[in-house]
Amino acid sequence: MPGIEESIGDSAMADPSSSSAGEERIALSEVVSALSFALDMTEDAVPGHAVRSCLLGMRLGAALGLDESQLHDLYYALLLKDIGCSSNAARMCQILGGDDRKAKREVKTVDWTRPTLAGIRMAWNNALPCASAGRRARRLIWLAMTQNRHNAEMIGLRCERGADIVRKIGLSDQCADAIHSLDEHWNGSGYPQRSRGELIPLLSRILGVAQHLDVFACEQGRNRATDTLAERSGTWFDPNLVRLAVSLHKTGTLWAGCGTEEERSRAMELEPGTIRVIASEQVDQVCEAFADVVDAKSSYTYRHSLGVTEVADGMARKMGLSAARRTLIHRAALLHDLGKLRVPNSILDKPGKLDPAEWLVMREHPGLSEQILARIPSFAPIARIAGRHHEKLDGTGYPNGLVGDALSLEDRIVALADFYGALSEDRPYRQAMPAEEILSLLRAQVPHKFDANCFEALMAFVDLQVYPTILIASQTAPAMGLVRATAI
Ligand SMILES: [Fe+2]
Ligand SMILES: [Fe+2]
Repeated sequence: MPGIEESIGDSAMADPSSSSAGEERIALSEVVSALSFALDMTEDAVPGHAVRSCLLGMRLGAALGLDESQLHDLYYALLLKDIGCSSNAARMCQILGGDDRKAKREVKTVDWTRPTLAGIRMAWNNALPCASAGRRARRLIWLAMTQNRHNAEMIGLRCERGADIVRKIGLSDQCADAIHSLDEHWNGSGYPQRSRGELIPLLSRILGVAQHLDVFACEQGRNRATDTLAERSGTWFDPNLVRLAVSLHKTGTLWAGCGTEEERSRAMELEPGTIRVIASEQVDQVCEAFADVVDAKSSYTYRHSLGVTEVADGMARKMGLSAARRTLIHRAALLHDLGKLRVPNSILDKPGKLDPAEWLVMREHPGLSEQILARIPSFAPIARIAGRHHEKLDGTGYPNGLVGDALSLEDRIVALADFYGALSEDRPYRQAMPAEEILSLLRAQVPHKFDANCFEALMAFVDLQVYPTILIASQTAPAMGLVRATAI
């Protein structure tokens, strides 16, 4: 399969929305900047965090006089810096015994490299928040004793995974390295390698500064963002970069475009050199990468999106659908659960029944998938299918309780594939079900809840015994470093 680089030729100079002979052409920046909003959700960041970090970091890169190739790597590293973020969510939830998203947000404004009152308060608020004071105190002591080991593990998981995914999309080693070293600190107090000074890639140092500026600006204002940046100069951050950022802040140019309605389109315009235009195969690669991000959020859903896609693809083939419709189904199945990145692992991995408040959070995820995907105009049909993957023909589904004809054939295929996929995987509250048992359970729900033709196609597909590979894969999740957070 060709990488993104190979898709770039002279023709890429053309308007990315143009196409010849129906061939799909889409700007990589358009897809990546839109999907970066899913990464913001995982980190509980203010929506647009990755895009604003991109605006800030590119301003620093330009002021440093980086060449076009460096700026290009920096650009995609800034947009995708959090792409490994879902891989440590389950483990963080297990270690803290609380909400991984809340902890991820709060830790960003605390200097966790040294004991501070703010750090102790943050740990206290997030460790076993529903337990007795005694249990919480014991957990806090344990966290303090194991902090270095856990930091190395958490950040290591995130960095390795992030760099791997970026390479898989076809971006450069320099871009992957920038993401891998995002959490290194100038004085060697960072992770995963305790690198220091100029041994840390320059692009990583810019990522760190840009990230800090946006997080603090959103939480505490722009002046406080540059003040705290200066306070950490020489410890967390490269002093030269801090001086540059503070000077751009004083001249009023640092924040241009941030906090406006147009911040995403401004970020898209900042892509250095020729706009990268990708063709159909590379669009699929990006969708698969983001499906990986979703699946890595929990060991129970490990390979869920890929498994659902395998089933939906098989059903669509059995039904003899056109290539264009199959492409639509393929991408919608890959990205249907994008909104789950906003669901804390304390809910996703809960061993028991969800309470009403938790259920409300869970019910939001199809709508969130739709909202994120709708940011890409050519993905509008994909967004619609993703937003309907929990709807049922009799109106008992969610989030909108749509009925019958309101659901297209594509909606029905993805919804059935998702239901089948979910039942074939372990969940914290039940074991995976064998294929025959799932089919018999589904048969009782046809045609009032699920489409009869789709069910026929599913049975024909399952008969081919392709799907058992997914069951095997789901059992390898713990071996891949994905923990089951049942010890909360
Ligand atoms: Fe879902
Ligand atoms: Fe799903």
